[in-house]
Amino acid sequence: MSPRSEPLRLGVLASGRGSNLQSIIDAIEAGRLPARLAVVVSDREQAPALGRAARHGAPALSVSPKDHGDRAAYDRALRQTLHAHGVELVCLAGFLRILGPELIRPLAGRVMNIHPSLLPAFPGLDAQRQALDWGVRVTGATVHFVDEGVDTGPIIVQEAVAVLAGDTAETLSERILAVEHRLYPRAIRLYAEERLRIVGRRVHIDPAEARPPA
Ligand code: GAR
Repeated sequence: MSPRSEPLRLGVLASGRGSNLQSIIDAIEAGRLPARLAVVVSDREQAPALGRAARHGAPALSVSPKDHGDRAAYDRALRQTLHAHGVELVCLAGFLRILGPELIRPLAGRVMNIHPSLLPAFPGLDAQRQALDWGVRVTGATVHFVDEGVDTGPIIVQEAVAVLAGDTAETLSERILAVEHRLYPRAIRLYAEERLRIVGRRVHIDPAEARPPA
């Protein structure tokens, strides 16, 4: 149950295939997520994520780093695009660029990311490969708020995934991805329901309001 009268306006940033974007679209279309896609932006013109957005009827744009002088200019361009579409929450979904203070500071507490490990273990690229190389028995997925570090912001939800004997980066990634697809819509839903409060490094999740007796 959402206390909001209007669906939450999401801006999704994605660089690649966009399966997490698809899980968000599916949750919206199934009525499990009180949100709408205000815009999907990619840094790559050919990203399949843009096609998924367009099929859902959402504005899909590419904003190329090549068209902007430096990282700060690129971040400002992204910020302007998100602002122009009235975005309330930004979701990074396989967006493979590090965002700087030009974007993150004005949007503090309003940018989320999904990462394929149990942070703070294995931040950065190839988290599943890092987990295999380290020999951990358990890894997983994390949704967190984005701060100015790399995968360092306050953690919203996490779920563990066992590493199995004989796993490759591909088989492990596939099982983590199935978890990601449940976890991200759940975290966004908590935000849409205004149940997340950031207190220092911690994110408090307010309990769901009790339903009135039937
Ligand atoms: C996902 O596994 C996501 O967690 C990961 O990229 C993949 C994107 O897949 N993100 C990172 O590693 C960020 N550091 P998708 O394009 O199918 O959603």
